[in-house]
Amino acid sequence: MGATVIIGGQWGDEGKAKVVDFLMGDHDVVVRFQGGANAGHTVVSGLGKFAFHQIPSGLLYPAVTGILGNGMVIDPFAFLQEYNDLSARGVDMTERLFVSSAAHVVTPVHKLMDNVLEADRRDASIGSTGKGIGPAYSDKHMRSGLRMGVFLREKDELFDIIERSIDWNNRIFAAYNAPTLSAETIASDFVGIKDAIEPFVVDTQEALHELQGKGRRILLEGAQGTLLDIDHGTYPFVTSSSCSIGGAVAGTGLRPRDIGRIVGIFKSYITRVGNGPMPSEIGGPDGEALRERGGEYGTTTGRPRRCGWFDMVAGRYSVQLNGYDEIALTKLDVLSGFSTVKICTGYRVAGRATAGFPQNAESLARCEPVYEDLPGWTERLSDARTIEELPAAARRFVERLEEGLGVPITFVSTGPAREETIIRSDTYSTVRK
Ligand code: IMP
Repeated sequence: MGATVIIGGQWGDEGKAKVVDFLMGDHDVVVRFQGGANAGHTVVSGLGKFAFHQIPSGLLYPAVTGILGNGMVIDPFAFLQEYNDLSARGVDMTERLFVSSAAHVVTPVHKLMDNVLEADRRDASIGSTGKGIGPAYSDKHMRSGLRMGVFLREKDELFDIIERSIDWNNRIFAAYNAPTLSAETIASDFVGIKDAIEPFVVDTQEALHELQGKGRRILLEGAQGTLLDIDHGTYPFVTSSSCSIGGAVAGTGLRPRDIGRIVGIFKSYITRVGNGPMPSEIGGPDGEALRERGGEYGTTTGRPRRCGWFDMVAGRYSVQLNGYDEIALTKLDVLSGFSTVKICTGYRVAGRATAGFPQNAESLARCEPVYEDLPGWTERLSDARTIEELPAAARRFVERLEEGLGVPITFVSTGPAREETIIRSDTYSTVRK
């Protein structure tokens, strides 16, 4: 059986973790393949509400194996903290969680560098989460980064390697007149966690192929979203990893032909946290109402998310890039109460219709939305278990999105709880072979 890949279809925060949690029952292995502690995946289960950052959210299932893949950048201190917090809440991950020796290490200098660079960009700041993601990927691509495999080295070697890497970054801080960090203290801190980290570190590429060979069913859990992808997103207002389908291969060592099912997650409206253009952003009271109803505040940073109407132009671009087999639509319940719900079906620049989704942020910033209005609904949706139980207007909205995106919508989420989910048996059968 080919691996299932979960991809964020928009600007992140689509509610991927709920879908991962939902699908996990049919899988044995869950893998994160990009990003790091900038992610915030919230799952509401019988044990309560959990926010995952670096550890794959599918691990709430007791028999599942979890992998932090080579495409990630990992803050080892935050990883241990998350591991300990989850363990304290009853999630036992003993001998079922592994970290790639080829994943890169986020160090305190990367976090400081994130803030120094953001301050330097002034008005053009990206709105980074400040978790050191961009600087860690920069070090990776400059071939000066540290990989998690360093934790397998002897303690004195580890000390020297870390100290050298901090010194290197300190020279850049000095050029920015920013405070430098004590290389010795940081190196000692890393040596201090070596024994705790070492047992997790393995060659996960090898392990994944082995698991696959034994018939284990693999699910790849994307973080962020397609429009934040370093290559295909709204550059430069993007994250530093490959959040679309290509990253699933590069970030795990699986082969393209190992992928069997690609599930795109789309929220029923759009949100963006951080800066950058967003043509269908809603200002004023409607935007605020959406933020409040949807609880649209960042899981990682607590920042208010910018809200907007569903953007079909961006959605079609996401479909084109990722080739989804099916789509899970989330947070439909949040739209209850609007007399009209809008869908952005096109863009105009200086009064003229444009074709497609522009590749760079400057062009996107010039686009004005063209809306299609659909009648709204007032009913709460969370008790509906079939598409037929939804109010006609909500059903029409789902069908219009499906028609516009050209991909079957197989799941509709109407609330945070596991049971607040509609499985479209009509469309589900068309994508399951
Ligand atoms: P960074 O990934 O921390 O460098 O942030 C770069 C951009 O990606 C900023 O606009 C962030 O707000 C955004 N971003 C990073 N991670 C997430 C996420 O998990 N959800 C939504 N936006 C994110």
